[in-house]
Amino acid sequence: MSLLKDLSQRFGEAFVAAGVDRSAGLVVPSQRPELAQYQCNGALGAAKRAGRSPRDLAQTVLDALTDREIYASLDIAGPGFINIVVTDDYLAARARAMEEGDRCGLDVPDPKRKVLVDYGGPNMSKSMHVGHLRASIIGESLKRLFRVAGHDVAGDIHMGDWGMPVGQLIIELERHQPDLPYFDADYAGPYPEDSPVTLDDLSEMYPVVVERCQNEPEEAERARQATFDLQNGRRGYLALWRHYHDVSVAEQKADFEDLGVEFDLWRGESTVHDRLAPLVDRLMNDDGLAFESDGAVVVQVGREDDKTEMPPLLLTRSDGSYLYSTTDLATLDQRIEEGYDLVLYVVDARQGLHFEQVFRAARLAGIAPDSVGLEHTMFGTVNSPDGTPFKTREGGVLRLADLMKIVTDAARARLDEAEIAQDYPDDERDRIARQVGLGALKFGDLSNHRTSNYIFDLDRFTSFEGKTGPYLQYGAVRIKSILRRAREAGLTPGPIVAPTVDQERGLILRLLLLPETIERAVDVRAPNVLTEYAYEVATDFNRFYEACHILREEDSIRQASWLSLVDLTLRVLTLLLDTLGIEVPERM
Ligand code: ARG
Repeated sequence: MSLLKDLSQRFGEAFVAAGVDRSAGLVVPSQRPELAQYQCNGALGAAKRAGRSPRDLAQTVLDALTDREIYASLDIAGPGFINIVVTDDYLAARARAMEEGDRCGLDVPDPKRKVLVDYGGPNMSKSMHVGHLRASIIGESLKRLFRVAGHDVAGDIHMGDWGMPVGQLIIELERHQPDLPYFDADYAGPYPEDSPVTLDDLSEMYPVVVERCQNEPEEAERARQATFDLQNGRRGYLALWRHYHDVSVAEQKADFEDLGVEFDLWRGESTVHDRLAPLVDRLMNDDGLAFESDGAVVVQVGREDDKTEMPPLLLTRSDGSYLYSTTDLATLDQRIEEGYDLVLYVVDARQGLHFEQVFRAARLAGIAPDSVGLEHTMFGTVNSPDGTPFKTREGGVLRLADLMKIVTDAARARLDEAEIAQDYPDDERDRIARQVGLGALKFGDLSNHRTSNYIFDLDRFTSFEGKTGPYLQYGAVRIKSILRRAREAGLTPGPIVAPTVDQERGLILRLLLLPETIERAVDVRAPNVLTEYAYEVATDFNRFYEACHILREEDSIRQASWLSLVDLTLRVLTLLLDTLGIEVPERM
């Protein structure tokens, strides 16, 4: 149990003894650290409800507290706040419990949820570009966050691999190579094993065909027809689809691996293909929820109190082909069958309307009972320093692989400038530059609240000073080297004892807030809660390290305790950075 939960429980019991609801006992960190460490504000509201004076109630609560020896001071302040300072012995005991427990003292959540994080979501046949960055980085971090918090979590890439873009790429290839067997509807033989195109080919073809379809209605019609034929099992198209799919996945897997993003499920829109027709049928015939409108099948999701009109959700086009909304609804149906009770869609804020429609349809159709959480965990865009969407110098869309090179090069320049890792072997320096570059990129992204747009500021992100990934990575590496030097000097960590120095106490107080920090980040689905806290841990550690000269300390019990504190700090920092998807080099 965390320190705050322990105190809240003790105060809760005292409130019960005073005839008030347990929930009034909530203890939180003090807003005035110079006055107290913690505070409990419950007497104010509870007294009001009970028609008593808050200060009187607070006094009754204090009188009812048991185990008084754990408090160094308890004061009633202002209208009835209780200010709490605990003893150094109590702090040390809590720190020891954290240090001895696995997972840095984090509890198993109640209720433990089965969570699906839908993120990344690249479309087939396109190289990943900077637009996929946030979906991947934020999604990965949220997946890790829920996992660290003790939930049962799976991450699903949910590739866009079944809609109109595929139809468009089919007609585009036919234009270039009409003689390929895939386009011959009468061809019954086997299809070639090798793909007729690379992902680069597809990436080049895609914008061309999209533009043609926009300008030429007959081309758009052909693409629609091809999509329909594919979805209805035309052999040649399916074979071609497989090639497109495989060349895309091969490159995307490599990109995601470079980025340190790992999916548990490599599913996509095509995965639920067999569910589409039965689902539409069910919604039309059993539920009477879906109906035909101008040949298309739609579900009315608008409500009377909608401020802006909510268009109906499209399930099929008039030619019978399925859409993004159909596959999302069917995918959700599958996820709920598989027992997920919280689904997070980590997708660009611009898809807000789409998800609102899908969620409403899912509730209306009983696909998602109210007990299942459906959330569009949206994020804003990455802009260049001039405020426009992030592009290459030539004005093109920046590929993810190129972006990785940019940040790695910038990190290498910073390492040179700071004369870090200069005499290491080349491959190790390369690895460190990559880790630091990625750390800069991820921290730079995740330290903004996910819904804000942010400016990609390479100089600031890669700096070893300030709230940056490199600062924290360097901090963690430094702690590793402190521990290494202590080991070399024959010193071993021992039980954490009562702190005697302010900076030491400050670090302990900070570390003990880990469980609530994780909880809060989970509650608001926001990794920036972790970046903030990680920075505070690193700064508090630096203060401690400046004040407490570990290697020179003469009292061996204190020295051993400090080493344990260093070790615990490293564990907490590593846990936080890992949850952010940031690696810590062995040395730097
Ligand atoms: N492929 C989609 C896109 O590129 C993102 C998919 C997001 N997930 C979902 N279940 N719709 O916009």
